[in-house]
Amino acid sequence: MCPTRLYGRGRVAVSKNIQWQEGGVTRAEREGRSGHRGVSLWFTGLSGAGKSTLAQALEHELVTRGMLAYTLDGDNFRHGLSNDLGFSRADRSENIRRVAEVGKLFVDAGFIVLCAFVSPYRSDRERARVCLGQGDFLEVYVRASVDTCRARDAKGLYAQAAAGQIADLTGVGSSYEPPESPDLVVDTERQSPVEGVAATLELLVRRGCIPARRESA
Ligand SMILES: Nc1ncnc2c1ncn2[C@@H]1O[C@H](COP(=O)(O)OP(=O)(O)OP(=O)(O)O)[C@@H](O)[C@H]1O
Ligand SMILES: [Mg+2]
Repeated sequence: MCPTRLYGRGRVAVSKNIQWQEGGVTRAEREGRSGHRGVSLWFTGLSGAGKSTLAQALEHELVTRGMLAYTLDGDNFRHGLSNDLGFSRADRSENIRRVAEVGKLFVDAGFIVLCAFVSPYRSDRERARVCLGQGDFLEVYVRASVDTCRARDAKGLYAQAAAGQIADLTGVGSSYEPPESPDLVVDTERQSPVEGVAATLELLVRRGCIPARRESA
């Protein structure tokens, strides 16, 4: 039987007789070796706003500079770990809970983990922040209007929504709650992908996650 049971939006832990096991290598030791902090960058925004584009480019830049970085992407996540979930309010919430838990493991492993998920609801993102820890969660609002996203329609989702084939597309048939005080806003109507990557790198330097010298390398 599954060790946890789903109760609507919340989950109740039912496992008993379990004890936390400390790892053989601490996070601090890992960070000392890599020369940068483990941290999560949480990219939120409408479908087509540019989350994956930005995360992929940033991941490439960080790894090229010798850092540990990995992207958790919405579509990929739903291919595997969340392939049992749909797009109801409860399922979206559960999806984000799983992302946060996986992201937390990456942070503990010393990675800069880039989470690219629409994650439309503030309460879900706040729970992700609590799960990951305030100092290990940087929220990046990837902003573009619905009209712009519809014009881009990178995956054809807006056309499908217009044809009545998708009822709950965020920004069309389902609401999106923008962050109230994100750590960074990347406006993809005004900033190019290169500028978006540069702004995110600056944020990582400013928050002491990566060294400045690497940023200017
Ligand atoms: N300044 C920009 N930054 C990022 N993407 C841009 C920018 N200008 C145009 N684009 C284009 O917008 C599209 C964004 O698609 P992308 O898949 O990155 O969106 P997404 O936010 O990950 O959507 P989804 O939530 O559906 O996964 C791409 O086709 C990209 O080339
Ligand atoms: Mg994407």
